[in-house]
Amino acid sequence: MTLLTTVGVLMVLASASSTATIPKFITTCNRKDPDMPNCVIGIVTRLRPYLAAGIPEFRIPPLEPLHLRELVAVEGPGIKISAKEIDTYGCSDFTIKRLKLDMDNLYAEADVDLPHLFMDGLYSVEGRVLTIPVTAKGTLRGNFTKCIGYLKMRGEFVKDEMGEDHLHCTYFDVKISVGNGHLRLENLFGTEELLGDLVNQVINSNFDTIMNELTPAIEKTLSAAFKRTANNIVEPFTYRQLFPDGERDTSG
Ligand SMILES: *[C@@H]1O[C@H](CO)[C@@H](O)[C@H](O)[C@H]1NC(C)=O
Repeated sequence: MTLLTTVGVLMVLASASSTATIPKFITTCNRKDPDMPNCVIGIVTRLRPYLAAGIPEFRIPPLEPLHLRELVAVEGPGIKISAKEIDTYGCSDFTIKRLKLDMDNLYAEADVDLPHLFMDGLYSVEGRVLTIPVTAKGTLRGNFTKCIGYLKMRGEFVKDEMGEDHLHCTYFDVKISVGNGHLRLENLFGTEELLGDLVNQVINSNFDTIMNELTPAIEKTLSAAFKRTANNIVEPFTYRQLFPDGERDTSG
């Protein structure tokens, strides 16, 4: 062996040993799997409890709860409601109903069932209900059932210094539809319980309008969080590690 090949071999060994090893909770799919969507659904489904609690080694914060810091303002009839610091629970309790994979173009679409989401946050409300002026602040709670998430993902290959392809998610879009829901503004007026009930009635009879204004903020947060999560999970590993082509992978 010449000195140059020896150095070359040592360099390859050094970088091979620094290649990330796939942890046990990330399962892989054979590239020739005849039912790839089903295999990928399995990977993601097995990840659910880890996503819920967060995965510190991949810098993934807990999905439970999903936190929405930004202020969302919603105009109802005669009143304006602002909400912020919204925590949403139940996002990790998803079921992937449909997964369309285009492995050649690194494109995927998925429909995800979210049976029950629960939300709490801070609200302030201002305006008039039946000509009565209303100004209040307090806790906002909400229940949403039969939600569906529509996901679209696009990826690209990024080569590492060894020339190995790594998956990188370039685009992650989440749209949600809410089946049913109920919102409650708490501690509205202290003693004036009737007026508080009235405001809550007005809000819930305009639930669809309010949700139409609230969902874009939730969708934006989910899209950014899921893109970051997907990248933190797949980027450390080569495409070959995640989708082995049948030969035994002895590197890890
Ligand atoms: C949400 O659902 C739970 C359990 O069914 C119930 O106890 C709670 O009062 C509901 N909250 C709202 C805001 O509807």
